Amino acid sequence: MSRPDIEPATTAGAAAPAVASAPLLPSFDLAAPPAAAPAPAPSIVRLDGVGKRFGDGPLVLDGVTLDIRAGEFVCLVGASGCGKSTLLNLVAGLDRQSAGTIETPAAGSAVMFQESALMPWLTASHNVELALRLRGVPRGERRTRARELLDIVNLADAADKRPHELSGGMRQRVALARALAQDRPVLLMDEPFAALDAITRDLLHEELERVWRATGRTIVFVTHNVREAVRLGQRVILLSSRPGRIAREWRVAPAASSVNGGARERRTETPEVSKLAAEITEQLRKEIRRNAA
Ligand SMILES: Nc1ncnc2c1ncn2[C@@H]1O[C@H](COP(=O)(O)OP(=O)(O)O)[C@@H](O)[C@H]1O
Ligand SMILES: [Mg+2]
Repeated sequence: MSRPDIEPATTAGAAAPAVASAPLLPSFDLAAPPAAAPAPAPSIVRLDGVGKRFGDGPLVLDGVTLDIRAGEFVCLVGASGCGKSTLLNLVAGLDRQSAGTIETPAAGSAVMFQESALMPWLTASHNVELALRLRGVPRGERRTRARELLDIVNLADAADKRPHELSGGMRQRVALARALAQDRPVLLMDEPFAALDAITRDLLHEELERVWRATGRTIVFVTHNVREAVRLGQRVILLSSRPGRIAREWRVAPAASSVNGGARERRTETPEVSKLAAEITEQLRKEIRRNAA
């Protein structure tokens, strides 16, 4: 079965050569001998001193410097109103920063929001086909490609259903298939599972992780849910509030299942994940208290 094409960062557009040849950040794994460390992937999104204010309002984001590598899964957490969506919109090119620079691949990003924003009169398949059409995929190929994409999100059986016939989780799966149909190297997700019940959310976490591994996309995932961030991200970045700055970041150790290929372990329930989630939550609370004071 053909998967959506994966765009290597080095061919991602005009900005890519400068990013790829820039000096690399030091490895986080200081204990590993240099010879054994695999070469880090090139940067695909780079923010340098990014600031944002709306009109003459207060500074919403200040001095945000961030380097995201091709294929990385990064989660951005922070209190409500701290500027997470603003930051994601800047990376998506939906808005412009007031200060600093943002480098993204010329091929752009696909964005997914809390609301699936599907066309209510189109079937799941037609919603995905619409994205393929906008991308210039020939008519004769669209239906097959849409089926393949719906298959990736475990929704092939619902291809002919309209959004109102689908559950909230299914609608977000269609939205994910539609985002994949855009075939952009970067996938930006703004609290996409926040409106779902916990069991559905757990299922979608598993699916998203599988899709990420299968497609090699770079994912930037915004959430106010720390457990969700630790469950999904390889790196969790905490934003402070007013103005939004990077307060801290954590690297999440890979799950046992992805290290040795053994039985799947639900990362949400491992002691390491709980410990890290507790630590990040404490920091987040400190940020919220500091702001309320
Ligand atoms: N278009 C806008 N115009 C004016 N203020 C905005 C706009 N969008 C966001 N803000 C303000 O910027 C701050 C950050 O908002 P947002 O990025 O939506 O936060 P988050 O996604 O972290 O909850 C808030 O104070 C919000 O009111
Ligand atoms: Mg938001």
